[in-house]
Amino acid sequence: MGLWTIRGGNRLYGTVQVQGAKNGVLPVLAACLVHNGISVLERVPRLRDVEYTLEILRCLDCKVRQEGDRVTVDSRNAQLREIPTFLMEQMRSSVLFLGAMAARFGEGAIHMPGGCLLGPRPVDLHLAALTKLGARIELGEKSISCLKSMLTGGEVVFPFPSVGATENAMLAACGCAGETVLRNCAKEPEIEDLAKFLCAAGVQITGAGTETIHIRPGKHNGTVCHRVLPDRIAGATLLCAAAACGGKLILREIICPHLKPVLDGLEEMGCNVKKQEDSVTLQSDGALWSPANEIITGTYPAFPTDAQPVMLAACLQADGVSVFRERIFSGRLAHAKQLRRFGGNICLTEDCSAVVTGVPRLHSANVEAHDLRGGAALLVAALQADGESHIVDHDRISRGYEFLDATLRQLGAEIDYTD
Ligand code: EPZ
Repeated sequence: MGLWTIRGGNRLYGTVQVQGAKNGVLPVLAACLVHNGISVLERVPRLRDVEYTLEILRCLDCKVRQEGDRVTVDSRNAQLREIPTFLMEQMRSSVLFLGAMAARFGEGAIHMPGGCLLGPRPVDLHLAALTKLGARIELGEKSISCLKSMLTGGEVVFPFPSVGATENAMLAACGCAGETVLRNCAKEPEIEDLAKFLCAAGVQITGAGTETIHIRPGKHNGTVCHRVLPDRIAGATLLCAAAACGGKLILREIICPHLKPVLDGLEEMGCNVKKQEDSVTLQSDGALWSPANEIITGTYPAFPTDAQPVMLAACLQADGVSVFRERIFSGRLAHAKQLRRFGGNICLTEDCSAVVTGVPRLHSANVEAHDLRGGAALLVAALQADGESHIVDHDRISRGYEFLDATLRQLGAEIDYTD
């Protein structure tokens, strides 16, 4: 558990290099097991979820070395072992080791994964896809086993373009005897990044980032080097903070098209947004108006659900009424209750929407962060609020943001984090 102390009201000025993407690196780390060789990853964010994933790889007898933002995984001597329940329960992405172990060993067993509580998070689409590829899946009360199977490959049509299920199927497909076609896939940039790594490892993949992905297994046992893509959600969080507090923020090494709906929303709110090839500059006088259009979350390229909480927090003082419709996770408006403690006027409706009526000033509050992005939203609120706020962090915010306190301090915020 940690405690954030924030004295709000400062404008944010400066240049930040965006961290590597949490949701990009986690599937790539699982893919390091599939690649029977050495993987060198760069721009790996130093996050708790990454630490836990590296620990999983070590448990499977991979050799792991971490130097700064570079991680080397040697999986040549990997062995099928049980992954401790504690590690599985730390994050959702641990479920990707089912597909990775099926590809590498033809079998494997995992405990049910954990992750942020955002409403029901079943794994039915993952299991249906693996079964379609030839895996024999057995469900225990809290465990999932892939019994020794001959993975054949085949055609999978996802009923919904789940990010994790698409990634799990891609990983398993690498160990199949034949070709795989995945249809109605997730199109998130993190899927393309995973495909890039797997292609470098010798797998033939086309169509990643579109609805249909073709995978033909292939191998090379050498060294694969991969630079993790920049974190669009960490970028969105800093942009929303600067928009709401006022100031001028330059984000370097960002891919602007990945952030399009967020940047469009911030422009609608009156921010001056200048997009360059690998950076974005946002200028705000802190006097925002509510976005002209409703913010409706959806699968890529729609507005990302992960950026909804921080955008909502940026609208708390915006002039007018902002409407948010959450369409991915039914529990992803839980931060509204805590945001009201800052004086935010948020009305929740039964269809998972939030109506935010801008208030002239927010005041300080003592609140608790129960999930990663909801916690980040509390930070965005506290940074704008008058006076000193405290956020009790149940080890959530640090799961997704690298050096966030230092970054915000460097931009001029008065903020401290103690463990
Ligand atoms: C990934 O989660 C991200 N996590 C999430 O990031 C992100 O919010 C989400 O994609 C949507 O973009 C990682 O990449 C590690 P989904 P994932 O499967 O893969 C339903 C963050 O804050 N569903 O696309 O779990 C599910 O219940 C996080 O960084 C099923 O019904 O997302 C949800 O309503 C949290 N059955 C919807 O699909 C399944 O088998 C989207 O889930 C799988 C999913």
